[in-house]
Amino acid sequence: MKNFAKSQAMQKRAQQVTPLGVNSNFRYWGEGITPYVQKGKDAYLWDVDGNKYIDYRMAFGPIILGHAIEEVDNKVAEEIRKGVLFAMTGELEIEVEEMMIEMVPGLEMVRLATTGTEATMHAIRVARAYTGREMILKFEGNYHGFHDNTLWSTYAPAETYGNARSPIPVAASSGIPRALGSLIITLPFNDKEAFERAMFSYGRQIAAVITEPCQGNCGAILPEPGFLELIQQKCSEYGALFILDEVKTGFRIGNGGAQEYYNLAPDLITYAKALGNGYPAAAFGGKKEVMSIIGHGVAQGGTYTNNKPGMAAAWATLKLLKEKPILKSIQQRGQRLMDGVDQILTEADLVHAINGYPAMFTFAIGAEKITSQREWNNTDHELYLEIMDALIERGVMPDHDAREPWFLCYAHTEKDIDDTLTAFREAVQVCKK
Ligand SMILES: Cc1ncc(COP(=O)(O)O)c(C=O)c1O
Repeated sequence: MKNFAKSQAMQKRAQQVTPLGVNSNFRYWGEGITPYVQKGKDAYLWDVDGNKYIDYRMAFGPIILGHAIEEVDNKVAEEIRKGVLFAMTGELEIEVEEMMIEMVPGLEMVRLATTGTEATMHAIRVARAYTGREMILKFEGNYHGFHDNTLWSTYAPAETYGNARSPIPVAASSGIPRALGSLIITLPFNDKEAFERAMFSYGRQIAAVITEPCQGNCGAILPEPGFLELIQQKCSEYGALFILDEVKTGFRIGNGGAQEYYNLAPDLITYAKALGNGYPAAAFGGKKEVMSIIGHGVAQGGTYTNNKPGMAAAWATLKLLKEKPILKSIQQRGQRLMDGVDQILTEADLVHAINGYPAMFTFAIGAEKITSQREWNNTDHELYLEIMDALIERGVMPDHDAREPWFLCYAHTEKDIDDTLTAFREAVQVCKK
């Protein structure tokens, strides 16, 4: 058994000064089992007890190159010595924006932000301002950050959602004003009929339909063929904006993200995570016509939107992504891991569904296919958790939470994939017994 004594002691200490002993609810795994981190390098992390893990959490997605990557850290170190914040625009951030626009087809103008929450919040403001409408349509199981606009129907039990024809938006937290529930329509992901019906009824009141391309916060459920295209088509028909939330997929599943992958033309797109390889960098952008209203009666800004560490990291990360076939290599290794996981589960006679892309995927046990959170809710999360615990015990760390995909980075080696599959086979065998 691994020693967790220091993590346990650190949890007790942290709980004296911060709720649950963590600075984001998602980082709390439970009493005595929440790991506390010491350091990371490449594809590995070490907890405070000195246990080493092959990391597949990748900080929930931002780490696309690896931990403590010299090219990125050196650029950050070089830039921060010249001062970190001026409330003035500099060349570095313009170059970041130029690179983003060069890499992502259809991205015509960008505004920077610091987190994904800010990026989606600003995109929603712009969509409301552009259309002169207030309603937002989102899908159950999608997560777009912590602001009150869309923190609805993210993780609730299926029975609270009501009938799929007329779902009940469920606030994901106390403290979210009930009044905002009247501005949100929630629908099951991939339900084309429900979506068409909702657009028929409310289309001309909707400012924006926002969606993750794949449900990166709910088992990496993929869009059914034609679903994202239908969203785009109906948005255009009813004059609503299509916001594609690429906070998890952007600069991860391809240099042009899901937009390029599915050949879409969203009005607005949001980014964070892989953009800065772990440093605080985020952005939203899209069509020039829409973005151009910012500054003309439409407020957007933030003290830290062009913070130097984030911008320098984004500059170095994008440069590497542009110059080297990094995402191709992640894709190949991820595919091997995904296939291996699939095969091991099949050999173990566990009915399962594999979802997501090689760079961010996961599986659910107890169903052959999953297309929505309502279906995902009925899968065997307990067995998933047991397998994760057995894996973590063997030095491989995907997230504890079955909703969270396994993330790959460029630093994962072929040997890491082999070692992971060996540990996974053992973990599955142990848990099946
Ligand atoms: C799709 C999506 N949008 C927005 C966010 C919010 O990003 P942040 O945690 O940087 O605020 C997340 C975070 O996981 C996300 O996955």
